Amino acid sequence: MRRGRGRDTFLLGVLAYLSLVSCSTRGPSSILDPAGPAARRIESLWWPMLWISVAVFAVVAAMLLVAIMRGRDGGGELDRSPVRWGEPFVAIAGVFVPALILTGVFLFSLREMNVLASGGDDPVLTIEVEAHNWWWEARYPNGAVTANEIHIPAGERVRVRLTSADVIHSFWVPRLQAKIDMNPGTTNELWLEADAPGRYRGQCAEFCGLQHSHMVFYVVADEPDEFDAWAANEARPARPPASPAGEEVFMSSSCVGCHAIRGTEATAELGPDLTHLAGRDTVGAGVAANTRHNLERLVADPQALKPGISMPPTTLGDDDLDALLDYLEGLE
Ligand code: CUA
Repeated sequence: MRRGRGRDTFLLGVLAYLSLVSCSTRGPSSILDPAGPAARRIESLWWPMLWISVAVFAVVAAMLLVAIMRGRDGGGELDRSPVRWGEPFVAIAGVFVPALILTGVFLFSLREMNVLASGGDDPVLTIEVEAHNWWWEARYPNGAVTANEIHIPAGERVRVRLTSADVIHSFWVPRLQAKIDMNPGTTNELWLEADAPGRYRGQCAEFCGLQHSHMVFYVVADEPDEFDAWAANEARPARPPASPAGEEVFMSSSCVGCHAIRGTEATAELGPDLTHLAGRDTVGAGVAANTRHNLERLVADPQALKPGISMPPTTLGDDDLDALLDYLEGLE
């Protein structure tokens, strides 16, 4: 008996610890760790809603407890005679008060939603973002095209125009903004602003297939002059190949059927634009760091790194693969 109780206490302790740990308000995807004005508005709506819920829960739990205690005091015999103030109490506590609270929260949310939607008037920049199974494409007004990393200038308001090439996805950068759907055939808009330079994790928030949970992107906020330099470089065609032999491998293999490298004969748009691939931090939409080893894994056996991906495996020999990797790593 005692041993059982000890085990229960231990399990309860573990549960309490885990719930405390998971309650941490910090983290790359925490709406309670806002890094911009829109996310701060959402956070300031979240806390009052939490405390209202806690208060309602506490009142209901207290009443339940009182009812249980009174039932026990009567030796199991419940007094079922009607209470004089019973009906007014049910009407007030069960209808009037909830209606008041829910209407208040609803109106307050509506106001916040309006601000979140309309706050992006007069942006410094508009970026076109298109979702694909399972990666993200970003196009800038200066001609730059990139994938899975969306650079913005820190402290500035940027508009993103969002659509999808295939199924419904959802654009969500928890530390910066609310989420919004990306629907094929229509365009939704959102504004983004980060207080300070940094990397903000984004995630597809609408189930879209096998790699939905690995459909990751980063919003990278740069100092404005760094952003300008980045955007200017991204708009340039690819630099002369680090490995001309590797470029030849690329142009004569299946790679060229899906990817564009601006300034070369590769112009397909089925997969991510690779013109400045080497400047990105991850490959496969956030599944792995952009290292030579991971690039090799992705090229040699894409299904192993990202099951379900449309990219076919290659059948290149070791020398060709090495040259191809040299070429890809030189695309800065
Ligand atoms: Cu794209 Cu889920």
